[in-house]
Amino acid sequence: MRDRPLLNRRLEGFSTTIFAEMSALAVRTGAINLGQGFPDTDGPVEVAEAAARAVRDGRGNQYPPGSGVPELREAVAEHQRHWYGLSFDPDSEVLVTAGATEAIAASMLALLEPGDEVIAFEPFYDSYAACIAMAGATRVPLTLRAPDFRPDLDALRDAVTPRTRLLLLNSPHNPTGMVLTRDELAAIAELAVARDLLVVTDEVYEHLVFDGEHVPLSSLPGMRERTVAISSAGKTFSFTGWKVGWLTAAAELVAAVRTAKQFLTYVSGGPFQYAVAEALRLPDAYFTGCRDDLRAKRDLLAAGLAAAGFEVYEPQGTYFVTTDIAPLGERDGFAFCRGLPERCGVVAVPNAVFYDSPDAGRTQVRFAFCKREAVLREAVDRLGRL
Ligand SMILES: Cc1ncc(COP(=O)(O)O)c(C=O)c1O
Repeated sequence: MRDRPLLNRRLEGFSTTIFAEMSALAVRTGAINLGQGFPDTDGPVEVAEAAARAVRDGRGNQYPPGSGVPELREAVAEHQRHWYGLSFDPDSEVLVTAGATEAIAASMLALLEPGDEVIAFEPFYDSYAACIAMAGATRVPLTLRAPDFRPDLDALRDAVTPRTRLLLLNSPHNPTGMVLTRDELAAIAELAVARDLLVVTDEVYEHLVFDGEHVPLSSLPGMRERTVAISSAGKTFSFTGWKVGWLTAAAELVAAVRTAKQFLTYVSGGPFQYAVAEALRLPDAYFTGCRDDLRAKRDLLAAGLAAAGFEVYEPQGTYFVTTDIAPLGERDGFAFCRGLPERCGVVAVPNAVFYDSPDAGRTQVRFAFCKREAVLREAVDRLGRL
C-alpha cells in the first residue's frame, strides 16, 4: 500500500492551506483575523429568518432538485435580467451549486480533458490551480503586476495555443481588487471567439465594485454561448457558511457542468436555497448599501495601512486590499505574516500563495476589510505599532 504516495499525484502540493494555518494562529494569539475573507457580521436578518422558516416549514429538508429549487433558479435568472439585461432560462440555463467553489470544480471537471491548457491570471484564488490539476489539465498563468494589476492582453493572445481550451477569469479579482474594464473584456471576448475558447468567469464579488462597473462577460457579443458565469450568496449576502452558489450559461454548457456536479454533491443546502431566492430579490438599496459600506471600510483600512508604512494597492472591488511590505524593510510575506500576530496582534495572508511564480508576490500581503468598523479601527491602531 505504501509503495506509492497515498495522495493522487495530481493533488501533490495542495495539502496545506495558509488560511488554516493563519486562522489557527489568530485563535492561538487572539489576534484580529484579517486573513480569511469572511464577514464578522451575518447578512440580513430577514434572509436568516427565511432560512429558519424554510427549515420549519419543511421546504428543502429533503433532497432538492439536482439543478436547485425552482424558486432560486428563477431568482437567479431575474437577478441577471434586472442587473445586466441578460436573459437565462431558469430550467435549462441556471445551475445551483455548493458555493462558487463547487461551480468552479464542476466546470473544470466537466469541460476539460487531460492535456488541455487553461489560462488564468495569477495571483489566482487558490481553488483554481487545484481544480485544473484534478481535471488533469495544465494551467498557464499570466502574471498581473503591481501597481495596478491590469492584464497584459498581448501576453494573453500569445499564450493561446492549439491546446488552450478555456480561460478562467475572475473579476472583481481576489486578491488584487482589480476589476476588468469593458474594453479589456471586449478584447478577451474577441480572442475567445477568434480562437474558439470556453470562458469560465468567477464573478462572486460582482456587487462589490467601488470604482468602475461590473460587466459580465456573457453580455458581450459572441460570449453567451461560450461563457459559464459563476456567483455566490456568500459574498453578496454575507452568509459564507451557507455555501449557496450558482452558475448561468447556455443550456449545453449547463448540462455538461451538471453532469460533474451530480457526482460531487448532487445537491446541497435545500432550505438555504429558498432564503437566497428571497435575498436576490432584496431592493437595489441593499446591494448599493453593502457596497458603500465596504467602500468606507476599504478607505479606512487602506489609509491605516499606508500610515503604518505599507505600500497600498487600492482595490477597485472585492473586500481585500493587497499591500507591499518592502517599504517596511521586509523581504518575505510568509515570514512577515507568521510574525505579525506576535508583533502587533493582526493576521494577514501572504499573496505568494496565490502565485505559481514564487517570486512574483514575495513581498505582497493581503488584508480583508469585511469586518466591523470598530475591529478595523483597532487593527489599524495595532498596525501603527509597526
Ligand atoms: C474569487 C473567489 N471565488 C470563489 C470563492 C468561493 O466562494 P464560495 O464560498 O461561494 O464557494 C471565493 C471565496 O473566497 C473567492 O474569493
